[in-house]
Amino acid sequence: MPIDLRSDTVTKPTPAMRAAMAAADVGDDERDGDPTTRRLEERVAALLGKEAALFFPSGVMANQAAIWIHAPRGTEVLLDVDAHIVHSEIAATAVLSGAQVLTVVPSGLVMSADDLRRAFRPRSRYYPAASLVCVENTHNGAGGKVTDINELRAIRAAAAEQGIPVHMDGARLWNASIATGLPLSEIADEADTVMVAFSKGLGAPVGAALAGSRKAMEIAWTARKLFGGAMRQSGIIAAGALYGVEHHIERLAEDHENARVLARLLDGAGGAAVVPPDTNIVMVDLAPGQTASEIAAAARDEGVLVSEWSATRLRLVTHLDVSAEDARHAGQVLRDCLEQSHRVTQRLSRIAN
Ligand SMILES: Cc1ncc(COP(=O)(O)O)c(C=O)c1O
Repeated sequence: MPIDLRSDTVTKPTPAMRAAMAAADVGDDERDGDPTTRRLEERVAALLGKEAALFFPSGVMANQAAIWIHAPRGTEVLLDVDAHIVHSEIAATAVLSGAQVLTVVPSGLVMSADDLRRAFRPRSRYYPAASLVCVENTHNGAGGKVTDINELRAIRAAAAEQGIPVHMDGARLWNASIATGLPLSEIADEADTVMVAFSKGLGAPVGAALAGSRKAMEIAWTARKLFGGAMRQSGIIAAGALYGVEHHIERLAEDHENARVLARLLDGAGGAAVVPPDTNIVMVDLAPGQTASEIAAAARDEGVLVSEWSATRLRLVTHLDVSAEDARHAGQVLRDCLEQSHRVTQRLSRIAN
């Protein structure tokens, strides 16, 4: 079996999680309510300190439902240029909500309140009105970066100055909470709606939730139906998510430690530069002359799978199915691949010169 560091979405449900799913009490969620789904929604709402939560088949759908709730047609949504909502949700904001994205280029790794303030347009009848700010925490594209709670507060204040709400894409909010030691509810308090995903660090096979006010969740119910995401005996998958919430949050600290082990092994290997990981994502920027496809192929031949994030950047993600020993071994394999490739690049450049 290869060591699969391509994403934390690749985990398989554990036997205990499968048993919980098999034993789930279920009903027709759309018609009468599904009891296990209801328990999950109540648990998530309580953890995030929100009035209500709604179970969704995917994080993308929950993010897009949030945008549908907050952003009227013809308005614009401000968010980090590298946000998942910008890069990996097709053009759903335009298609489903009829709103456009105004991407904010961060001065650091992730969007700050100052970056956001600079991006707001002056009010004018010619300009689209800003309707929503989205933050991604942790930030996938920036290498699993946590936005500091004081920065989140400042972003909330900047949005409030414009009279608009904040949505948090918290697909990996669990990781942010473990990395900072802050309760989920304290981080979630800095947004009006929050999406959390169960199919990443928590190891569940399917699902995400959106949390917010009871009124917002009523509108989200309509969005979920409109987008084709209303479900029937969803308790089967909700049970997997609930199991992840009950058993797999605290252990994320192990994934973070494994990411640090990978980072230590890889930083400087063959000239590579590693973005120091806050959580479970390690971004590796390759030395000039190396390509992500070449290194990923060499690692694959040695039983280690990594993502080609760009032509010159690899992404490695630690998760439930990667042990400490796996992380060490994968790090050594990748280090060898990077050093070997660097030696070849140097030899070729000597010949060329
Ligand atoms: C930051 C972020 N937001 C949203 C999503 C979408 O979640 P899903 O794959 O459940 O649709 C992902 C998926 O990887 C993600 O990384």
